[in-house]
Amino acid sequence: MEQVKIRAMHDGDLDEIYSIDKTILGKDRREYWQMKMELLEQRSPMAQLVAELDGKVVGFIVGDASGWEYGVPDTVGFIDTIGIHPDYQKQGIASVLLKEMVDSFRKVGVDSVSTFVNLRDRDLLDFFEKMGFEKGDMVHIQLKI
Ligand SMILES: CC(C)(COP(=O)(O)OP(=O)(O)OC[C@H]1O[C@@H](n2cnc3c(N)ncnc32)[C@H](O)[C@@H]1OP(=O)(O)O)[C@@H](O)C(=O)NCCC(=O)NCCS
Repeated sequence: MEQVKIRAMHDGDLDEIYSIDKTILGKDRREYWQMKMELLEQRSPMAQLVAELDGKVVGFIVGDASGWEYGVPDTVGFIDTIGIHPDYQKQGIASVLLKEMVDSFRKVGVDSVSTFVNLRDRDLLDFFEKMGFEKGDMVHIQLKI
Protein backbone atom coordinates (compact mmCIF):
# COMPACT_ATOMS: atom_id res chain seq x y z
CA MET A 1 0.00 0.00 0.00
CA GLU A 2 1.16 3.49 -0.87
CA GLN A 3 2.07 5.97 1.88
CA VAL A 4 -0.80 8.15 3.00
CA LYS A 5 -0.64 11.61 1.45
CA ILE A 6 -2.03 14.65 3.28
CA ARG A 7 -3.11 17.57 1.11
CA ALA A 8 -5.43 20.58 1.13
CA MET A 9 -9.07 19.82 0.42
CA HIS A 10 -10.51 21.09 -2.86
CA ASP A 11 -13.92 21.35 -4.56
CA GLY A 12 -13.47 18.09 -6.42
CA ASP A 13 -13.30 16.16 -3.11
CA LEU A 14 -16.89 16.96 -2.16
CA ASP A 15 -18.49 13.69 -3.31
CA GLU A 16 -15.85 11.43 -1.70
CA ILE A 17 -15.87 13.35 1.59
CA TYR A 18 -19.62 13.49 1.70
CA SER A 19 -19.84 9.76 1.13
CA ILE A 20 -17.34 8.96 3.94
CA ASP A 21 -19.16 11.34 6.27
CA LYS A 22 -22.50 9.71 5.51
CA THR A 23 -21.06 6.21 6.06
CA ILE A 24 -19.63 7.21 9.44
CA LEU A 25 -22.51 9.28 10.76
CA GLY A 26 -25.44 7.69 8.96
CA LYS A 27 -26.89 11.11 8.38
CA ASP A 28 -26.97 13.56 5.54
CA ARG A 29 -24.71 16.59 5.96
CA ARG A 30 -24.46 17.68 2.32
CA GLU A 31 -25.42 21.26 3.20
CA TYR A 32 -22.70 21.41 5.87
CA TRP A 33 -20.10 20.20 3.39
CA GLN A 34 -21.30 22.51 0.63
CA MET A 35 -20.95 25.43 3.03
CA LYS A 36 -17.43 24.31 4.04
CA MET A 37 -16.47 24.01 0.36
CA GLU A 38 -17.77 27.50 -0.38
CA LEU A 39 -15.62 28.89 2.42
CA LEU A 40 -12.51 27.11 1.10
CA GLU A 41 -11.25 29.97 -1.03
CA GLN A 42 -11.48 32.50 1.78
CA ARG A 43 -9.55 30.37 4.24
CA SER A 44 -6.10 29.02 4.78
CA PRO A 45 -5.48 25.90 2.66
CA MET A 46 -4.32 24.25 5.89
CA ALA A 47 -7.75 24.64 7.51
CA GLN A 48 -9.26 21.67 5.67
CA LEU A 49 -7.16 18.63 4.80
CA VAL A 50 -7.77 15.24 3.27
CA ALA A 51 -5.82 11.99 3.52
CA GLU A 52 -5.30 10.20 0.22
CA LEU A 53 -4.29 6.58 -0.22
CA ASP A 54 -3.66 5.15 -3.69
CA GLY A 55 -5.31 8.28 -5.15
CA LYS A 56 -8.48 7.83 -3.12
CA VAL A 57 -9.71 10.18 -0.38
CA VAL A 58 -10.00 8.06 2.79
CA GLY A 59 -10.29 10.72 5.49
CA PHE A 60 -10.66 14.41 6.26
CA ILE A 61 -10.17 17.00 8.96
CA VAL A 62 -11.65 20.49 9.19
CA GLY A 63 -10.20 22.97 11.67
CA ASP A 64 -10.25 26.64 12.39
CA ALA A 65 -8.28 29.40 14.10
CA SER A 66 -9.74 32.82 13.60
CA GLY A 67 -7.57 35.07 11.50
CA TRP A 68 -4.88 32.47 10.82
CA GLU A 69 -5.04 33.15 7.09
CA TYR A 70 -3.48 36.51 7.95
CA GLY A 71 -0.93 34.99 10.32
CA VAL A 72 -2.48 36.79 13.30
CA PRO A 73 -4.78 34.21 14.84
CA ASP A 74 -6.32 33.86 18.22
CA THR A 75 -4.21 31.60 20.36
CA VAL A 76 -7.00 29.06 20.18
CA GLY A 77 -7.47 26.49 17.41
CA PHE A 78 -10.55 24.40 16.90
CA ILE A 79 -11.17 20.99 15.33
CA ASP A 80 -14.54 21.06 13.64
CA THR A 81 -14.77 17.55 12.32
CA ILE A 82 -12.55 14.54 11.59
CA GLY A 83 -13.48 11.32 9.87
CA ILE A 84 -11.82 8.24 8.39
CA HIS A 85 -13.55 5.78 6.08
CA PRO A 86 -14.39 2.64 8.15
CA ASP A 87 -12.27 0.42 5.83
CA TYR A 88 -9.21 2.53 6.63
CA GLN A 89 -9.56 3.13 10.36
CA LYS A 90 -6.98 1.98 12.91
CA GLN A 91 -4.07 2.50 10.51
CA GLY A 92 -2.86 5.76 11.96
CA ILE A 93 -4.46 7.98 9.31
CA ALA A 94 -6.42 10.24 11.70
CA SER A 95 -3.26 10.72 13.77
CA VAL A 96 -1.37 11.95 10.71
CA LEU A 97 -4.20 14.34 9.75
CA LEU A 98 -4.46 15.72 13.27
CA LYS A 99 -0.69 16.09 13.62
CA GLU A 100 -0.51 18.04 10.35
CA MET A 101 -3.27 20.40 11.49
CA VAL A 102 -1.78 20.87 14.96
CA ASP A 103 1.62 21.62 13.38
CA SER A 104 0.12 24.34 11.20
CA PHE A 105 -1.81 25.77 14.16
CA ARG A 106 1.44 25.89 16.11
CA LYS A 107 3.23 27.69 13.26
CA VAL A 108 0.76 30.59 13.45
CA GLY A 109 0.97 30.95 17.23
CA VAL A 110 -1.94 28.82 18.41
CA ASP A 111 -1.21 27.38 21.84
CA SER A 112 -4.31 25.34 22.57
CA VAL A 113 -6.60 23.23 20.41
CA SER A 114 -10.20 22.44 21.34
CA THR A 115 -12.98 20.29 19.98
CA PHE A 116 -16.49 19.19 20.96
CA VAL A 117 -17.13 15.47 21.25
CA ASN A 118 -20.42 13.88 22.12
CA LEU A 119 -20.06 11.77 25.25
CA ARG A 120 -21.59 8.87 23.34
CA ASP A 121 -18.90 8.96 20.63
CA ARG A 122 -16.54 6.57 22.37
CA ASP A 123 -14.27 6.14 19.35
CA LEU A 124 -13.70 9.88 19.00
CA LEU A 125 -13.18 10.33 22.74
CA ASP A 126 -10.67 7.46 22.84
CA PHE A 127 -8.92 8.82 19.78
CA PHE A 128 -8.57 12.38 21.13
CA GLU A 129 -7.45 11.07 24.51
CA LYS A 130 -4.77 8.98 22.79
CA MET A 131 -3.67 12.15 21.01
CA GLY A 132 -3.16 13.90 24.35
CA PHE A 133 -6.41 15.89 24.61
CA GLU A 134 -7.76 16.37 28.13
CA LYS A 135 -11.02 17.63 29.56
CA GLY A 136 -10.99 21.44 29.35
CA ASP A 137 -12.33 24.08 31.72
CA MET A 138 -15.48 24.91 29.75
CA VAL A 139 -18.80 23.22 30.42
CA HIS A 140 -21.38 22.80 27.71
CA ILE A 141 -24.72 24.33 28.77
CA GLN A 142 -27.73 24.70 26.54
CA LEU A 143 -31.24 26.05 26.27
CA LYS A 144 -33.65 23.95 24.22
CA ILE A 145 -35.95 26.15 22.14
C1 LIG B 1 -12.06 8.34 15.58
C2 LIG B 1 -11.41 8.18 14.19
C3 LIG B 1 -11.24 9.58 13.56
C4 LIG B 1 -10.04 7.52 14.38
O1 LIG B 1 -9.43 7.38 13.12
P1 LIG B 1 -8.25 6.31 12.87
O2 LIG B 1 -7.57 6.66 11.60
O3 LIG B 1 -8.81 4.96 13.01
O4 LIG B 1 -7.31 6.62 14.11
P2 LIG B 1 -5.76 6.22 14.23
O5 LIG B 1 -5.56 4.90 13.55
O6 LIG B 1 -4.91 7.34 13.79
O7 LIG B 1 -5.65 6.00 15.79
C5 LIG B 1 -4.86 6.80 16.63
C6 LIG B 1 -4.94 6.27 18.04
O8 LIG B 1 -6.27 6.39 18.56
C7 LIG B 1 -6.75 5.12 18.96
N1 LIG B 1 -8.11 4.88 18.46
C8 LIG B 1 -8.58 5.20 17.24
N2 LIG B 1 -9.87 4.78 17.11
C9 LIG B 1 -10.19 4.18 18.29
C10 LIG B 1 -11.35 3.51 18.78
N3 LIG B 1 -12.44 3.36 18.02
N4 LIG B 1 -11.33 3.01 20.02
C11 LIG B 1 -10.22 3.11 20.79
N5 LIG B 1 -9.07 3.71 20.38
C12 LIG B 1 -9.05 4.24 19.15
C13 LIG B 1 -5.88 4.08 18.28
O9 LIG B 1 -5.75 2.95 19.08
C14 LIG B 1 -4.57 4.79 18.08
O10 LIG B 1 -3.72 4.62 19.18
P3 LIG B 1 -2.41 3.69 19.00
O11 LIG B 1 -1.60 4.39 17.94
O12 LIG B 1 -1.81 3.72 20.33
O13 LIG B 1 -2.92 2.38 18.56
C15 LIG B 1 -12.25 7.27 13.26
O14 LIG B 1 -12.53 6.08 13.93
C16 LIG B 1 -13.56 7.91 12.80
O15 LIG B 1 -13.60 8.58 11.78
N6 LIG B 1 -14.63 7.70 13.55
C17 LIG B 1 -15.89 8.36 13.31
C18 LIG B 1 -15.80 9.79 13.79
C19 LIG B 1 -16.96 10.63 13.48
O16 LIG B 1 -18.07 10.30 13.84
N7 LIG B 1 -16.68 11.77 12.76
C20 LIG B 1 -17.67 12.65 12.27
C21 LIG B 1 -18.16 13.65 13.27
S1 LIG B 1 -16.92 14.63 14.03
